[in-house]
Amino acid sequence: MRGNGLGIDFDQLITREHTESVKFDARKSVFGTDQVIPLWVADMDFAAPQAVTRALEERARHPVYGYSLFPESLYQSMIDWFASRHGWHIERDWILLAPGVVPSLHAAAMAFAAEGEGIIIQPPVYPPFFSSVQKTGRRVIENPLQWVDGEYRMDLEHLAACAQQGARMLVLCSPHNPVGRVWRREELEGLLEITRQHDLLVVSDDIHCDLVFDGHRQQMLASMATREDRIITALAPSKTFNIPGMGLSALVIADAGQRQAIKRVFDSLHMQQANPFSIVAFEAAYRHGGPWLDALLPYLQSNMQFVRQYLQQHVPQIRCAQAQGTYLLWLDCRALGMTDGQLKAFFIQKAGVGLNPGISFGAAGSGYMRINIGTRRALLQQALEQIRDAVQAHVATALGRESR
Ligand SMILES: Cc1ncc(COP(=O)(O)O)c(C=O)c1O
Repeated sequence: MRGNGLGIDFDQLITREHTESVKFDARKSVFGTDQVIPLWVADMDFAAPQAVTRALEERARHPVYGYSLFPESLYQSMIDWFASRHGWHIERDWILLAPGVVPSLHAAAMAFAAEGEGIIIQPPVYPPFFSSVQKTGRRVIENPLQWVDGEYRMDLEHLAACAQQGARMLVLCSPHNPVGRVWRREELEGLLEITRQHDLLVVSDDIHCDLVFDGHRQQMLASMATREDRIITALAPSKTFNIPGMGLSALVIADAGQRQAIKRVFDSLHMQQANPFSIVAFEAAYRHGGPWLDALLPYLQSNMQFVRQYLQQHVPQIRCAQAQGTYLLWLDCRALGMTDGQLKAFFIQKAGVGLNPGISFGAAGSGYMRINIGTRRALLQQALEQIRDAVQAHVATALGRESR
């Protein structure tokens, strides 16, 4: 997209093959073939903001890449970003830096629930929400999202019932991957009422918080909290500015005791070292990435509309809910009448497109696929055309079988 005033061209082809990119270079091991258009793992095919590249180049020019500190200016860049973009005031002392958000989910499970105790998650949801609980020996309690009036909602009644099954913690995904919901204030207020009643600690994974489309507004749960609420927020510039490979995120924890509890887990694994490159990328992104993000969001939103319209017109068998945020779309493929195994094979072998099977987001994802739209429109179009041709062939074969 030229014409965004910044000379940023999201339509530009940037070849990612042979850059050790998981999305491109792991295709053979994940899909059994590299002949698929990769629209799966959650990074985007766009160049990061120029300010990030410049900061990395400058750092690289200093030829010693030794053990590094987190500078105060890095904390301040994040504080300023959340104050100006989200109206949320974060105190310096509340911030605990962490390698990635997923390690923080593991650490929170270990810090706030004992082995065998319950942690509530709301599927369909990002697979590490399951695995962070299971791999740490805690117990998953599922509060599945409900489809109500054309959108996914949290089932707050069922959540109260879940809380009574010995749950210690709830992991919220806000905005929600994979269904693209941006939770409204009143929904989060309802959630807080229940977590207060049942003394549940909430880990709010707000990694997608900046990727919100027109007409919707991200509410940071922690900014709505009272002193009695126990809320930990996981944040990162990684999705916002397309720098997830940098591996640096942050936890915001207002309560000193809770902060210590997480810190003890990290310390026990010696997970403290800052990477000289992730430090400069993090700070440059939050300090200077705003205009890049402002150009990105309309591009993503028009990609989302493009996919929805294309499917409505050409592949009505696949329904796509309107996403309110994220660059992930949730495709309802149940009308194709396939098992999850067949659906996965169909997209790889017949359509030549590499997506995430919905079933990997929990049983509630059966019959669905997740597509990543953080790419060039032309590539999305090619993928959609391949999907259209494969579905048409599938429908023709099924009809032929019926008329025989
Ligand atoms: C909700 C959510 N949390 C966390 C992550 C990954 O976080 P990290 O790479 O910092 O571990 C993702 C990536 O897709 C995500 O969607």
